[in-house]
Amino acid sequence: MRSKRKIYSMPPRKPIYEGKAKQLFEGPEPGTLIQHFKDDATAFNNVKKGTISGKGVLNNRISEYLMTRLHDIGIPTHFIRSLNMREQLIKAVQIVPLEVIVRNYAAGSFAKRFGVAEGKALGHPLIEYCYKNDALGDPFVTEEHIFAFGWATPQELDEIRMYAFRINDFLSGLFMGIGIRLVDFKLEFGRLFENEREQLVLADEISPDNCRLWDTKTGKKLDKDRFRQDLGQVEDAYREVARRLGVLPNEKEASYVIEVNAKLAGAAKKKAAKKKK
Ligand SMILES: Nc1ncnc2c1ncn2[C@@H]1O[C@H](COP(=O)(O)OP(=O)(O)OP(=O)(O)O)[C@@H](O)[C@H]1O
Ligand SMILES: [Mg+2]
Repeated sequence: MRSKRKIYSMPPRKPIYEGKAKQLFEGPEPGTLIQHFKDDATAFNNVKKGTISGKGVLNNRISEYLMTRLHDIGIPTHFIRSLNMREQLIKAVQIVPLEVIVRNYAAGSFAKRFGVAEGKALGHPLIEYCYKNDALGDPFVTEEHIFAFGWATPQELDEIRMYAFRINDFLSGLFMGIGIRLVDFKLEFGRLFENEREQLVLADEISPDNCRLWDTKTGKKLDKDRFRQDLGQVEDAYREVARRLGVLPNEKEASYVIEVNAKLAGAAKKKAAKKKK
């Protein structure tokens, strides 16, 4: 059956940054950016590369939903509004060059570092920081490093810690309610300069790419560890998280996107063939 909806081609936009999982474009208004979620996946500091079909669409939805819920409880975020299946409009911020990691249970590099079993419950949630620098492999740092290098002020770090614990409490409960254990996750914060004042806001994304999510009953991993450890069914796991959160794109929308992509690919092919002539 042919769709009656008109399909518009996308206007050209100025690319700002191409990362491993996302692309940033200039937004329609000053101080805004478009965050485009790709299907590309990397692990172990870019050593392992691949694609997870449909991941971008799912992460866009999941991150939008979680950021909106966090906004509702008073956490300032960069999210403005959803644009389409893979893109959202965000406020441009100056990223604090830290990966803020919150851990409830031992897993991944942390379990290895301390020689403890994956899944061991920690006495209390703990926060770790890595310096965001791909060339250096995002090294682990302490507060001393952060202040000595001036990556954040003590006041900013206090605020970041407060937000991180609050986000952890809220998200742990939210995921528990849908049968998922929030094992650990990574956050990024940024400085927003608006109305002549500076404010720290939650930035980047919250998705199965940067959270460890385990099914509470079976222990099944529902996150990027399935890709890191070649466990298979990666997309299914992301889809399951979206489904339980109630944000799974419906079949109609999904088929519309496939149709748009096919038309755009066809148009690009025709253009390329015309150029050759
Ligand atoms: N609101 C924002 N304003 C400006 N930059 C942002 C904002 N939100 C996220 N970013 C940055 O956009 C980039 C998103 O791309 P992606 O996550 O693919 O990067 P990456 O390749 O993982 O690199 P990185 O290690 O810096 O995260 C990141 O560098 C992130 O810090
Ligand atoms: Mg990133």
